[in-house]
Amino acid sequence: MTMKSLMLGLLMSVSAVATVQAADLQIVLGDTGTGLKFLQSQVDRYMAQYPEDKVTIVPMPSSTTDQFGQYKLWLAAGNADIDVYTTDVIWAPQLADHLTDLTEATKDIIGGYFPAIVESQTANGKLVALPSFTDAPALYYRKDLLEKYNKPVPKTWDELAATAKEIMDGERAAGNKDMWGFVWQGNAYEGLTCDALEWVKSSGGGQIVEPDGTISINNPKAAAALDRAKGWVGTISPEGVLSYGEEESRGVWQLGNSVFMRNWPYAYGLGNGADSAVKGKFDVTTLPVGAEGDSPAATLGGWNLAVSKYSPDQDAAIRLVKFLSSPDEQKRRAIEQTNLPTLMATYDDPDVAAAAPIIPLWKDVFLNAVPRPSGPTKLKYNEVSSLFWSAVHDTLSGKGSGADNLELLEAKLTELKGSGW
Ligand code: GLC
Repeated sequence: MTMKSLMLGLLMSVSAVATVQAADLQIVLGDTGTGLKFLQSQVDRYMAQYPEDKVTIVPMPSSTTDQFGQYKLWLAAGNADIDVYTTDVIWAPQLADHLTDLTEATKDIIGGYFPAIVESQTANGKLVALPSFTDAPALYYRKDLLEKYNKPVPKTWDELAATAKEIMDGERAAGNKDMWGFVWQGNAYEGLTCDALEWVKSSGGGQIVEPDGTISINNPKAAAALDRAKGWVGTISPEGVLSYGEEESRGVWQLGNSVFMRNWPYAYGLGNGADSAVKGKFDVTTLPVGAEGDSPAATLGGWNLAVSKYSPDQDAAIRLVKFLSSPDEQKRRAIEQTNLPTLMATYDDPDVAAAAPIIPLWKDVFLNAVPRPSGPTKLKYNEVSSLFWSAVHDTLSGKGSGADNLELLEAKLTELKGSGW
């Protein structure tokens, strides 16, 4: 081999290496249910397809509120270590400045997604995240117990409370001392905003801040809805519900220790898992209403995939996000995680309907779900929500009545709004 051909060979191999864009990516995800394990299976499939990339998952706490606090700090500091963020549906306007615009990169695929979800992830004309799954809660009920006590599926909150109490008392008398009537999310965090918005909205009490920006929360129907929920604490719901998130309520429910549960669809698949005491014993329906004539309300949730503006590997990060949200991966997610797809076509897939009957059933529920006021309150949403969940938590803990706490809340929100949101 001549010196020249050696040099040429060397040059060629250097340029070959240069064209392979090897990337070391980090993606964050909150630890809820078996979500981390599922993401690892997705990442493994991604790395099999793109062996030049290495992807590491950074686990975060389950609470969306805790995640948001951390992400805001990282993004404000221009953190270049985290490439991809799993983002809550409510965060788009607040984090938009730190996230890459995905409009151009997704222009050929975005038409397959529900337009309203895409809209929710669009801030100032910029697509800040690609929807991964959407969310709308269900009332989980023990069909074996309703049958045993000859009770219909409750339609109003008061009916739910009465049925919960009767069955709980009956089961305790029969020997299950750990039995409760109703578990839900009562900790002081974003999850409580979701639950309480449902109690209020389904009782004709509005949606905290209306789509036109009006602060509507201080009204008698909303106050009565909070007082009603306070009546559950320590009676049909354990005192500890005041520190429950999704996972704590699922824990009680899945051990067979509650008649009813309010939770998101992810709990459906897990509840039917091999290790679940309620496997095959429950069903889902829409949440109750305040009174006959009111409409049920489900808070709109959901999670998305965003690329950090500070990631040094923009192309690879976008490639990963598109892979994770692709039709194949959404189908797997629907079947394995019972998460609601964001792609319209996945709802018509017969494999999905067979493996996860809640998915086709829940399409209408999520399409009619109530958004939290993150749209109208823009950059101030987190503060609005935290003032709301605090007022609710105070009421539930017996620190003032619903009416007192909502009056105070109105004053605080009015001050926060100032001359506009
Ligand atoms: C679910 C929803 C999310 C919501 C959270 C509250 O994860 O998808 O939107 O903020 O619950 O705990």
